[in-house]
Amino acid sequence: MNKNKKDVKVETKKGSIDEWPEPIVRVQSLAESNLSSLPDRYIKPASQRPTTTEDAPASTNIPIIDLEGLFSEEGSSDDVIMARISEACREWGFFQVVNHGVRPELMDAARESWREFFHLPVHAKESYSNSPRTYEGYGSRLGVEKGAILDWSDYYYLHLLPPPLKDFNKWPSFPPNIREVIDEYGKELVKLSGRIMRVLSSNLGLKEDKFQDAFGGENIGACLRVNYYPKCPRPELALGLSPHSDPGGMTILLPDDQVFGLQVRKDDTWITVKPHPHAFIVNIGDQIQILSNSTYKSVEHRVIVNSEKERVSLAFFYNPKSDIPIQPLQELVSNHNPPLYPPMTFDQYRLFIRTQGPRGKSHVESHVSPR
Ligand code: OGA
Ligand code: NI
Repeated sequence: MNKNKKDVKVETKKGSIDEWPEPIVRVQSLAESNLSSLPDRYIKPASQRPTTTEDAPASTNIPIIDLEGLFSEEGSSDDVIMARISEACREWGFFQVVNHGVRPELMDAARESWREFFHLPVHAKESYSNSPRTYEGYGSRLGVEKGAILDWSDYYYLHLLPPPLKDFNKWPSFPPNIREVIDEYGKELVKLSGRIMRVLSSNLGLKEDKFQDAFGGENIGACLRVNYYPKCPRPELALGLSPHSDPGGMTILLPDDQVFGLQVRKDDTWITVKPHPHAFIVNIGDQIQILSNSTYKSVEHRVIVNSEKERVSLAFFYNPKSDIPIQPLQELVSNHNPPLYPPMTFDQYRLFIRTQGPRGKSHVESHVSPR
């Protein structure tokens, strides 16, 4: 193979890059090779390591909100639930939901099918290997900067919506029922997202379909990123996923029920999320922060790893139609409250994270309108 050719990053017309800058190493293979030390590529600079000293007290947690009653016809407790969601979106950007309407058996089946998939030997997964052009498939890095310090995780990324992007051939075929399970899981999460979107709109005094309409109505995008965090020989030096905010609209995360790992930034501390059984973790992404003109916050988060247990999580992303400009809603801006962000399509916006990788809140912060 022509080595020089491999070293050249190919910029396509859309600005994305077709190849990884260097050979991909599966974190699973490293973890299974009984390393006594952590390879340099995964050692974070001291200032980025997951120290425990500046962490919040272990009892602190993100809000847990019971959605029971919210979606039923009568629902007398609506106002209280709506107010709690409103506060969570403004103050935390993150909350857990229980009684969300998705069957617990389906949640477990989805996570455990993916666990089985990741337990396949690495060579059995290489045929699904992804590229930075679409990210679809089996991957082990985010961003294409040559020589970057990497995160301690592998993942699988696939599209659920819009229908033309949903391609079963790009989904795993093992374990045998995984495609059906993912399909049903995806449909349930699209429904749940639609309901939460209505609450987010109403809570800003907008008509309940406002956010959905701004996202392109029926033509929204939805994708799934399944994260596999193997055991790490030196968890105090590495991160499973570096600090980032999610570039899309809204994320619904199914965490591992056994293993903590997700940390959410609250002011200057990192709070370790304690997952409630069969809850989902919901968070605001950059596109909703933009539409709401920053009333709702897309909050930075990261994942820590450990040396005892692997961790599997399913991040479902609910996104605007990818080619319509997203900007603060007219109803929410005025002379006193000018739009903070210029219009940009999600196709354009997501190139920040796809090329630069996770970088805290720098993508949305650098996207502000000139003053
Ligand atoms: C993500 C993410 C958190 C987790 O995939 O964007 O933040 O707990 N995942 O795996
Ligand atoms: Ni995230």
